[in-house]
Amino acid sequence: MRARRRLLVANWKMSRTPSAAAALARALVAIPRPAQLDLAIAPSFPALDRVGAALAGTGITLAAQDVYVEKEGAFTGEVSASMLKDAGVALVLVGHSERRLFRGEREPDFARKMERLVEQGLAPVYCVGETRAERDAGRTADVLRSQLAALDGFSAPPSGLILAYEPVWAIGTGLPATPAMAAEVHARLRAELAARFGTGVAGSTRILYGGSVSPVSAPGLFAEEEVDGGLVGNASLVASDVAALLAAAAAPTTGAARA
Ligand code: PGA
Repeated sequence: MRARRRLLVANWKMSRTPSAAAALARALVAIPRPAQLDLAIAPSFPALDRVGAALAGTGITLAAQDVYVEKEGAFTGEVSASMLKDAGVALVLVGHSERRLFRGEREPDFARKMERLVEQGLAPVYCVGETRAERDAGRTADVLRSQLAALDGFSAPPSGLILAYEPVWAIGTGLPATPAMAAEVHARLRAELAARFGTGVAGSTRILYGGSVSPVSAPGLFAEEEVDGGLVGNASLVASDVAALLAAAAAPTTGAARA
């Protein structure tokens, strides 16, 4: 038995209207899911209610793609952690590279978002990852370390914390990291977690891989003991692909001996 339960998080980004999202959620609910796997779906805010209704009683977790840094008040257009909680959300993405790139959000913002989630008992999926230029310059480890600085203010990890390693160059490109690259970075992230919070926390924290996870790339990635599941964009919009990813995630790992 794996020490950590595998998890797939479907990140639907800004696609699917609420009615289309509800239909897709129903299609995913109908896929037989191995008992040892967890599945979460992150639709857009307006679709949370209908997707949540489709997921009720299924054991599939309702997730959100973002949360605002403040608790409540005059912040037109923003969504608070308490609103997400009331809507039935349990898991929230923080620090996705598209928020970093298109909205200019940085570690201090992510720290505040995670504080808001902790206050509401919601678990963050904190996303980190280097750009192609950063990898080519040999800066991957430094970049990841500076992104983990969003956790600096926490003496204990945010409850339920999950990390997602998402190399920016792999997202939506059809060019995933190799299994060896993912395993190496995950091990590095786990060592960083151990240094901050101790080996117990590091050993029990799930680290997902994201970036062009597909039925083709998933078997190799999920063969790695270090890879505790996936944060999946494009492939999560296709029910047959999700079925293939679940099957790949349920397969036994073979890469445990990788040095
Ligand atoms: P992708 O997106 O699976 O389409 O590469 C992953 C993500 O951005 O979380």
